[in-house]
Amino acid sequence: MIRSVVRGFGAALPKRVVTNREMEDIVDTSDDWIVQRTGIRQRYIAGEGETTSSLGDAAARAALDNAGLTVADIDLIICATSTPDNTFPATAVKIQNMLGMSHGFAFDVQAVCTGFVYAVTTADAYIRGGLAKRVLVIGAETFSRILDWNDRTTCVLFGDGAGALILEGVESKGTTDDRGILAASLRSDGAHRDKLYVDGGPSSTGTVGKLRMEGREVFKHAVGMITDVIQAVFDSTGTTPDQLDWLVPHQANRRIIDASAKKLDIPPEKVVITVDLHGNTSAASIPLAIATAASDGRIKEGDLVMLEAMGGGFTWGAVLLRW
Ligand code: UT7
Repeated sequence: MIRSVVRGFGAALPKRVVTNREMEDIVDTSDDWIVQRTGIRQRYIAGEGETTSSLGDAAARAALDNAGLTVADIDLIICATSTPDNTFPATAVKIQNMLGMSHGFAFDVQAVCTGFVYAVTTADAYIRGGLAKRVLVIGAETFSRILDWNDRTTCVLFGDGAGALILEGVESKGTTDDRGILAASLRSDGAHRDKLYVDGGPSSTGTVGKLRMEGREVFKHAVGMITDVIQAVFDSTGTTPDQLDWLVPHQANRRIIDASAKKLDIPPEKVVITVDLHGNTSAASIPLAIATAASDGRIKEGDLVMLEAMGGGFTWGAVLLRW
């Protein structure tokens, strides 16, 4: 069978770092509160000229370099984002053009913080279905542009950035020893859409809108939803938490990550944490965390890696892959 194997990874961050101390000048908050409640110490905020597409383009170029490939080798670009440059065309199409690619096709996936998990799963389906051989999967966001900077309950939590993976179809044995994507579990439930949403849009208000979140409500559901999909992926592959080398979670809140890992008996030393550095970068958080742990030598060829995310919608999902 064909498996979608990771050929390369890349990341990009805006130039400007904003520390928790600097957030104290913007809203009534404290470094202590932010660190204790979320684990976040700083975030990167896009400046003038930095956009979702420019960050996505930079992450894509880094992934191509890392893989030793050029755009000529790519058939499809999928960009997971909830903060596109424009309502349309897709940011993926803009990035395609920025990369100098005029063949193949490109589209966006919108599943908020679960966007990268959905995008990787979509890329895998296109590869296994024979519609693409190599897919550039990008998660890119500029959430700073949809934050209400007067709302301390949300503006301290999010940051901007992008990450990318290149997936390639490789003939494989069909066992869990194969490299590549082994299984996924995706879920959504629109009954929860009012707990985390943007209060504008082209068809409702004709405005872009700002992010609104009932943090406590999201928190209440997060651990159960995350651990359910991870367990579903373990069950469907006959693998177990002790076989896992790395859990790469969506980086929303350190407490959610720690509680999810604990519930599944995954020890803290196997969990990749970047929320302290990047804050919550939505669809960019998993590929940024992957790029961090793969470039510092933690994630190595042959390692069993679980990705998971939960976010607005609600959407949630997990992907198991062998690096
Ligand atoms: O990525 C998509 C998924 N999103 C998430 O996973 C986010 C999930 N939710 C969370 O991570 C947490 O609920 C938060 C970090 C958003 C909040 O943590 P919490 O422990 O649930 O705090 P809380 O909302 O219960 O607020 C506790 C107190 C409140 O004061 P009172 O009512 O107890 O007097 C808030 O007003 O903390 C106050 N507070 C703040 N204080 C200082 C809220 N935001 C801040 C702030 N600085 N920035």
